[in-house]
Amino acid sequence: MKYIIANWKSYKSSDEVNEWFDQFNKIIDSDNTFASLFHANQLTLILFVPSVYLFLANERVSLHNYIKIGLQNISQFDQGAYTGEISASMVHKYASYCLVGHSERRSLFNESEQEISMKISRLAEHNIKIVQCVRNDEDTIYDSTDIVAFEPVTAIGTGQNMPADEVIKLKKSLKLNDKPFLYGGSVKPHTASEYLSQNEIDGLLIGSASLDPQSFLDIAKLV
Ligand code: PGA
Repeated sequence: MKYIIANWKSYKSSDEVNEWFDQFNKIIDSDNTFASLFHANQLTLILFVPSVYLFLANERVSLHNYIKIGLQNISQFDQGAYTGEISASMVHKYASYCLVGHSERRSLFNESEQEISMKISRLAEHNIKIVQCVRNDEDTIYDSTDIVAFEPVTAIGTGQNMPADEVIKLKKSLKLNDKPFLYGGSVKPHTASEYLSQNEIDGLLIGSASLDPQSFLDIAKLV
């Protein structure tokens, strides 16, 4: 099983989201490779969309139940007097996965280890699967984490993807407890097979290359 995950970050207007799904649905409707890989238990496709597009994204993939929708962030609190926050109890019927601990949240929003651990607890309470990003072997991997995405900061958005052999070397130093292990950082269609051909790497977390449905699905097709 390989996970191919899109992280749109804070990109796309609502018109652009609709255009993305128009193109995405056109490709998967005309090519049953994706549905076949899913039914053969070889592929899980997850789209981490900005939270404001959660309902739209669910609606746009409703004919393809093998595509999962997730969020990029969640409140560390359950519902209450937390102006502007989106709690796990609000979204658990619409988001089957959530990203936690992305290095952009740590560095740009000062997200602390305590907040990360609280977010993971809230998600686990509401049965939302957790994809936890780690930057290196110093980041704690939590028991409730379902999937670990190793994303070296030097590789995110820089075009400098870490070679697969180095990724695999670092994997050995992580306390994964058999959790699926993904790589993320400047993966493009022409570099994806370097990772997907390795048994030790269970999938990819894709940022900029996921903004274009064709390049995202070109990567998924390499599974
Ligand atoms: P990138 O982003 O593919 O644009 O490097 C990956 C990520 O930050 O998840």
